[in-house]
Amino acid sequence: MLKLQNISKRFDDKFVLEHINLEIGTGEIVSLLGPSGSGKTTLLNIILGLTSVEQGKIIFNDLDLSNVRMKDRGFNIVFQDYALFPHLNAYENIVYGLRNKKGLVSEEELHDYIDFLELQPHLTKKMGELSGGQKQRVALARTLVMKPKILLLDEPLSALDGVIKESIKQRIKSIAREYKLTTIIVTHDPEEALTMSDKILIINQGNISQFGSPQQIIDHPANDFVKEFILKQLEIKRENIYHLFGEKYA
Ligand SMILES: Nc1ncnc2c1ncn2[C@@H]1O[C@H](COP(=O)(O)OP(=O)(O)OP(=O)(O)O)[C@@H](O)[C@H]1O
Ligand SMILES: [Mg+2]
Repeated sequence: MLKLQNISKRFDDKFVLEHINLEIGTGEIVSLLGPSGSGKTTLLNIILGLTSVEQGKIIFNDLDLSNVRMKDRGFNIVFQDYALFPHLNAYENIVYGLRNKKGLVSEEELHDYIDFLELQPHLTKKMGELSGGQKQRVALARTLVMKPKILLLDEPLSALDGVIKESIKQRIKSIAREYKLTTIIVTHDPEEALTMSDKILIINQGNISQFGSPQQIIDHPANDFVKEFILKQLEIKRENIYHLFGEKYA
């Protein structure tokens, strides 16, 4: 269980996050959804430990991590631009983080991850020889082999389209299920959040607008912002939502 208690953050005297309270259960997939500049990446970086908090606490499995350094938290992130090394091949990128962590994963586990993400045929290719979706899978593999306690993803699908987007989406979902891995995904796309997460945190100008399951958010939007942002902005009409969520909501 990850708990954020009363987290606030200021940059240059301006609050970009205010009084964020949140509980995320083990193995849950949670989307952070909000417009550009609303504080999503900042919140992700605070959980990761890259950005410090000036107020509030981060508790993970009853341990207070607020002042624990990033590398000791045991969480891991896939950055939006993947941050892969261009001069290394796919395999070298995947195992890069393991160079000082002998024994963290067995050879067998390593190949399980590689097979799971269907990267076997691409292992000797350099980054410039891979498609966007393949790079994304290398970035995911590189993060997963570190066996993170929480997987953080910043806009993992934004550079992808169509079929590739759908397939990465399904893969992220099955990784979270298969490895019971708590997964927090930043997105500004309501449809993405609605279709891939157990819960959605809707964030507006550094404040929580609503936190709930996709169904709760659709059935009981907490305020006008949620209504506008979720329903109107993307012109998701009720019929489309029935289509997305099936008979249950018809
Ligand atoms: N290091 C920083 N120094 C100063 N201001 C910052 C810094 N990082 C973020 N901000 C500001 O904090 C606010 C929230 O930024 P953040 O990157 O968290 O937004 P976001 O929701 O991830 O947006 P986007 O969807 O565009 O990625 C913005 O107004 C941004 O300008
Ligand atoms: Mg961002």
